[in-house]
Amino acid sequence: MFKENLLKDKTIIVTGGGTGLGKSMSTKFSELGANVVITSRKQEIIDKTAKEISEKTGNPVLAVKADVRKPFENENVLNTAKEKFGKVDILLNNAAGNFISPTERLSYKAFDTIVDIVLKGTYNFTLAAGKYWIENKIPGIVLNIVTTYASVGSGYVVPSAISKAGVLNLTRSLATEWGKYNIRLNAIAPGPFPTKGAWDRLFPGAGFEEKLINKIPLKRVGEHSELANLAAYLVSDFSGYITGEVVTIDGGEWLAGAGEFNWLDEIKPEQWDEISKSIKQKNKK
Ligand code: HXC
Ligand code: NAP
Repeated sequence: MFKENLLKDKTIIVTGGGTGLGKSMSTKFSELGANVVITSRKQEIIDKTAKEISEKTGNPVLAVKADVRKPFENENVLNTAKEKFGKVDILLNNAAGNFISPTERLSYKAFDTIVDIVLKGTYNFTLAAGKYWIENKIPGIVLNIVTTYASVGSGYVVPSAISKAGVLNLTRSLATEWGKYNIRLNAIAPGPFPTKGAWDRLFPGAGFEEKLINKIPLKRVGEHSELANLAAYLVSDFSGYITGEVVTIDGGEWLAGAGEFNWLDEIKPEQWDEISKSIKQKNKK
């Protein structure tokens, strides 16, 4: 789908790039020729991932430890990336924390932890990158990974829902404010894509996955390559006129949940015969 070296000479920082979707997107970017910088709290994990990706693609992958909650650590990632690759072009805010819980059972610290990682971590890193791009007149790109419930909200993941909604709003707000500096910001709202991080914390019980798949019109979860391809497009120059946008990739899941009559999927063909007859009779009255 993409031409070889689509992202050559681009340097991309991926937060949470050592595992899950961050790792899959980093692999794709590296395959397309980018210099990739992955970051998370666990040096051992990002080192292993960096080596694995680099051996696969033949392109350099740098692993720099940082907790996105700490602005100076984010600045260190940016500076280390600049030293190694000369400049930074793209920031992918992918790091997140989340778990299911009835909201009334959450401690204040639990709420703060999620908001600090997802909302403030994204804001802090974006600000550091933006200042650097504005000062050096570099046309930057930010891609934020949100969720479908960033727009509609969701029970049982309230700290995450509030934070992702904030990240979506940040995407739209800065897309307008920083357009004049040639900085683009977009977001991807994924539905369910199996990762250990998400599945351990969001679908821990028996039967969770079956329930999930049943409510997706395409009757399957997403494949990492599908998300990685979308991300590659949105960080490439081919999407140069798209900014402030969120692209949903969820097999139709959230629309199915929102549409008033979508539950009629449950009605069998013979029941439709009855229903149709009954409505037509009432029409005549
Ligand atoms: C209630 C919980 C809890 C749980 C943690 N806490 N887990 N409360 N239920 N299951 C509380 C703790 O008791 C503590 O509060 C506070 O949260 C902080 O917990 P720590 O373990 O000290 O925090 P930390 O070590 O910083 O770990 C952060 C974390 C952890 C978010 C809690 O899960 C993590 O490291 N997550 C990173 C990866 C991740 O979450 N990936 C999934 C993203 S998936 P007290 O008051 O007791 O001290 C995603 C997809 C969404 O976002 C859409 C899917 C379709
Ligand atoms: P994951 O593998 O658990 O990814 C989360 C990453 O964030 C981890 O690599 C983790 O690394 C990093 N991270 C967490 N806290 C951090 C911190 N304070 N500082 C730096 N890094 C931190 O889960 P995933 O499913 O791939 O999630 C990736 C993104 O996709 C998240 O934004 C998530 O909300 C989004 N998403 C996922 C799904 C899905 O179905 N999987 C659906 C919608 C949206 P360390 O623990 O090493 O720090």
